[in-house]
Amino acid sequence: MGLSLHISIVPAIMVVVSLQVWLPLGCVEEERAALLQLKDSLNYPNGKSLPSWRKGDARCCDWERITCNSSTGRVTVLYLDSVRNGELGDWYLNASLFLPFQELLWLYLWDNQIAGWVENKGVYRPFKMRKLEYLDLSYNRLNNSILSYMDGLSSLKTPDISYNRLEGLIDLKGPTTLSTLYLNNITVYGSSFQTLLQSLEAFPNLTTLGLGDNDLRGRVLGFLNLKNLELLDLSGNTLNSSNIFQTIGTMTSLKTLTLWNCILNGQLPTSQGLCDLNHLQELDIISNDLSGFLPPCLANLTSLQQLYLSSNHLKIPMSLSPLYNLSKLKDFYGSNNKIYAEEDDHNLSPKFQLESLYLSSRGQGAKAFSKFLYHQFNLQYLGLSNIQIKGEFPSWLIENNTYLKSLYLENCSLSGPFLLPRSSHVNLSILSISMNDFQGQIPAEIGAYFPGLEFLMMSDNGFDGSIPSSLGSMSSLQLLDLSNNVLTGITHSNNSLQGQIPGWIGNMSSLEFLDLSANNFSGPLPLRFGASSKLRHVYLSRNKLQGPIAMEFLDSSRIVALDLSYNDFTGRIPEWIERLSNMNFLLLSHNNLEGEIPVQLYRLDQLTLINLSHNYLSGNILSWMISTRPFQSIMTNYDSMSSSQQSFEFTTKNVPRLYSGSVIRSKFGFS
Ligand SMILES: *[C@@H]1O[C@H](CO)[C@@H](O)[C@H](O)[C@H]1NC(C)=O
Ligand SMILES: *[C@@H]1O[C@H](CO)[C@@H](O)[C@H](O)[C@H]1NC(C)=O
Ligand SMILES: *[C@@H]1O[C@H](CO)[C@@H](O)[C@H](O)[C@H]1NC(C)=O
Ligand SMILES: *[C@@H]1O[C@H](CO)[C@@H](O)[C@H](O)[C@H]1NC(C)=O
Ligand SMILES: *[C@@H]1O[C@H](CO)[C@@H](O)[C@H](O)[C@H]1NC(C)=O
Ligand SMILES: *[C@@H]1O[C@H](CO)[C@@H](O)[C@H](O)[C@H]1NC(C)=O
Ligand SMILES: *[C@@H]1O[C@H](CO)[C@@H](O)[C@H](O)[C@H]1NC(C)=O
Ligand SMILES: *[C@@H]1O[C@H](CO)[C@@H](O)[C@H](O)[C@H]1NC(C)=O
Ligand SMILES: *[C@@H]1O[C@H](CO)[C@@H](O)[C@H](O)[C@H]1NC(C)=O
Ligand SMILES: *[C@@H]1O[C@H](CO)[C@@H](O)[C@H](O)[C@H]1NC(C)=O
Ligand SMILES: *[C@@H]1O[C@H](CO)[C@@H](O)[C@H](O)[C@H]1NC(C)=O
Ligand SMILES: *[C@@H]1O[C@H](CO)[C@@H](O)[C@H](O)[C@H]1NC(C)=O
Repeated sequence: MGLSLHISIVPAIMVVVSLQVWLPLGCVEEERAALLQLKDSLNYPNGKSLPSWRKGDARCCDWERITCNSSTGRVTVLYLDSVRNGELGDWYLNASLFLPFQELLWLYLWDNQIAGWVENKGVYRPFKMRKLEYLDLSYNRLNNSILSYMDGLSSLKTPDISYNRLEGLIDLKGPTTLSTLYLNNITVYGSSFQTLLQSLEAFPNLTTLGLGDNDLRGRVLGFLNLKNLELLDLSGNTLNSSNIFQTIGTMTSLKTLTLWNCILNGQLPTSQGLCDLNHLQELDIISNDLSGFLPPCLANLTSLQQLYLSSNHLKIPMSLSPLYNLSKLKDFYGSNNKIYAEEDDHNLSPKFQLESLYLSSRGQGAKAFSKFLYHQFNLQYLGLSNIQIKGEFPSWLIENNTYLKSLYLENCSLSGPFLLPRSSHVNLSILSISMNDFQGQIPAEIGAYFPGLEFLMMSDNGFDGSIPSSLGSMSSLQLLDLSNNVLTGITHSNNSLQGQIPGWIGNMSSLEFLDLSANNFSGPLPLRFGASSKLRHVYLSRNKLQGPIAMEFLDSSRIVALDLSYNDFTGRIPEWIERLSNMNFLLLSHNNLEGEIPVQLYRLDQLTLINLSHNYLSGNILSWMISTRPFQSIMTNYDSMSSSQQSFEFTTKNVPRLYSGSVIRSKFGFS
C-alpha cells in the first residue's frame, strides 16, 4: 500500500517541475504576437480597448479576457465580446490572424460591429481552427458570406450567428458535428425557411436550435421534423396555434420548448401534440393570447420542471390542482392570467415542491391562501400580488420555507398586525407588503428577524407609531418604502424626539432609496440625514417637517431625486444645492421657503423636473418649472416598475398636473 502510493506520487511531482522549467512564462510567442495584432485590428484606427495586452509583457495568459490551458500554455478561450468601441465603426476581421490559435476551444466575438472580412490579396482564407467548438458572432453586422467562412472549423459544435444581417436564402454548410445552432433574427421567411430546414438535415446530431425573432409563419413549420432536437426556441415569431403544437408533438426528444411571444391564441391542446412530449423539462409560452383551462393531459408531462405561462388569458386555479402529479415541477410562473379560486379547495397535497411561484394577477379574488401552500417548504421566490386573498400576514410561509428569498404580497387585502415569524430568517432579501390594510406598529424587533433584507416595501398601509431602530441593523437594506402610512415617529424610547424622523436612518450604509412620504412626521430634519454614501432617492413629501432645509450629503453627486414638497420648511433654498450635480428631480413646492431662488440652481444641468411653487420665493420661477430637456425620455427608463407608484405634482404655467409614474424601482430589477 505505502509503496504504491509512493510510486504514484513521484511522477506527478516530476511533471510539475518539468513544466515549470520548460514553459516560457505561460504563453506561446506565436499566439502572443497574434493577440497583439488582433488588438491593433479591433482598436483600428484609434480605440483603447484591452489595455492589459501590452507589447513588452510576455505573460499573455495573464492578460484580460484570455484563458490558457495551464499545462500547455496555449490559448483555449478568447472572450472578445463587446470590445470594439462603438464610435470606431465597422470592423473587418482578418481571418489569418486566428491561424495561430490551433488549441482554441471557445471564441466570443459578439457585439463588435463585425461587418465582414478583409481580403488577403484576393486569397480566400476561411477561419481555420481545428479544435474550435463554440463560436459566438451574434449581434454583429455580418451578411450571408459568414456561412462560407466557417469551412475550416472542423470541430465546431455551437455557432451563434443570431442578430446579424443575414437575409434570404440560407444554405448552411459546416461540420456535420454541429449540435447547436443559434439562428435568431436571421430574417428567414417563406421559401428560404424551407431551404434552411433542408440544410439542417445535414446535421443529424443537432440538439439545440434557436430560431427566435425571425419572420416564420406557422404554415412553414409543418416541415419541421427534427426528431433528435432537445431544445427549440421559436420565440418572437408569429406562429399558427392550430398546428404548431401538433407539429412539435413529433419532436419527442424535446426537453426545452420556448414559444415566448408568438401570438398564439385559442386553447392549449387537450390531447395529441404538446402532451406527448414526455421528456419535456421546460415549457415557456409566456406572452401569448392563449385562453381556456389548463388541459388535464398536462399531467402527462411528468418530466416538467419549469412551466412558464405568464401573460396569457388562461384560467388557472389558485390551487394549481391540474399540476399536482408533476412531481419534478420546481418553477411555475402563472402571473397575469385569469387566476380563480375553486369552490372548495381540497386537502390534496401536490407531488411537487416548488422553488418559485408567481401567481399575481389583477382583478382576481381568492379569499384565502391556497391549502397546497401549507405543504411547500422549498419556496425561494413567491409572488401573489394583486390577488384579493384577505386574511392576516402569512408568517407561516416564512417559517415553513427557510430558503425564502423574496415575498411579494402587494395589494392582497391582507390586514391585522404585521406578524413576525417565530425565528429569525436570514435569507429573506425582498419583502413587499405594500397596499394592504395592515395596522399597528411595525414590530420593534423586525431588524433582528430579517437581518438580510435588501428591499422592504410597506407603503400604503395603516402602520402607525415610530420607525423601529432595529431597522438600522439591516446592513444590506437598499430600499425602504414606508410611504402612505400614519407613522409619527412618536416613540417611548429616549432615542428620538416626538414626531421626528430618526437620524440613524441616514447612517444606513447600503440605503439608496428612502420613501417616507405621506406620513405624520414632524420636527426638523436630522442634520446628518444624508450621511449614507449610497443614498440616491429621498422622498419626504406630505409630512409636517419644519425648519430649514439643512441636510448633509456624504456623497452629494449621487442624489438623483429629492422631494420635500408639502411640508412646513422655512428659510432659503440652500446654496449647497449646487453640489447635487446629478439631480434629476427636485421638488420643494408647498412649503414656506423664502428669499431669492439661488443662481446655483442653474448649474444643475441634469434636472428634468423641478417644482418650487407655492413658497415665498422671488426670482424667475417659471423658466424653472420644467427644464428644456424632454423629460419623457427619462421617464421611459422607469416604466416597468412593479406596483407602488411615485407621484409628483408639478406645475406648468400655474396649471397643476400630476406626473404619476414608476419612478425608480425598475432600477432595482423588479419585475
Ligand atoms: C490541456 O491540454 C492537455 C494536452 O493537450 C489536455 O490533455 C488537457 O485536457 C487540457 N486541459 C484542459 C483544462 O483543457
Ligand atoms: C457581404 O458583405 C461584404 C462586406 O461588407 C460585401 O463585400 C459582400 O458583397 C456582401 N455579400 C453579400 C452576399 O451581401
Ligand atoms: C492579415 O493578417 C496576416 C497575418 O498577420 C497578415 O500577413 C496580412 O497582411 C493581414 N491582411 C491584411 C489585409 O491586413
Ligand atoms: C453524431 O454523434 C454520434 C455519437 O456521439 C457520433 O458517433 C456520430 O459520428 C455523430 N455524427 C456526426 C455526423 O457527427
Ligand atoms: C430582427 O431583425 C430585424 C431586421 O434586421 C429588425 O428590424 C428587428 O428589430 C429585429 N428584431 C429583434 C427582436 O431584434
Ligand atoms: C393554420 O393552420 C391550420 C391547420 O393546419 C390551417 O387550416 C390554417 O389555414 C392556418 N392559418 C394560417 C393563418 O396560416
Ligand atoms: C395522457 O393524458 C390523457 C388525458 O389525461 C390520458 O388519457 C392518457 O392516458 C395519458 N397518457 C399517458 C401516456 O399517460
Ligand atoms: C395523478 O396520479 C394518480 C396516481 O398516480 C392518479 O390516480 C390521478 O388520476 C392523477 N391525476 C391527474 C390529474 O392526472
Ligand atoms: C389591486 O388589486 C385589485 C384587485 O386585483 C386591482 O383591481 C387593482 O388594480 C390593484 N391595484 C393596483 C394599484 O395594482
Ligand atoms: C406550514 O405551516 C403550517 C402552519 O404553521 C403548518 O400547519 C404546516 O405543517 C407547515 N408545513 C410545512 C411543510 O412545514
Ligand atoms: C439560506 O440559504 C442558503 C442557500 O441559499 C442555505 O444554505 C441556508 O441554509 C439558508 N439559511 C437558512 C437559515 O435556512
Ligand atoms: C430615558 O432616559 C432616562 C435618563 O437617561 C432614563 O432614566 C430612562 O430609563 C430612559 N427611558 C427609557 C424608556 O429608555
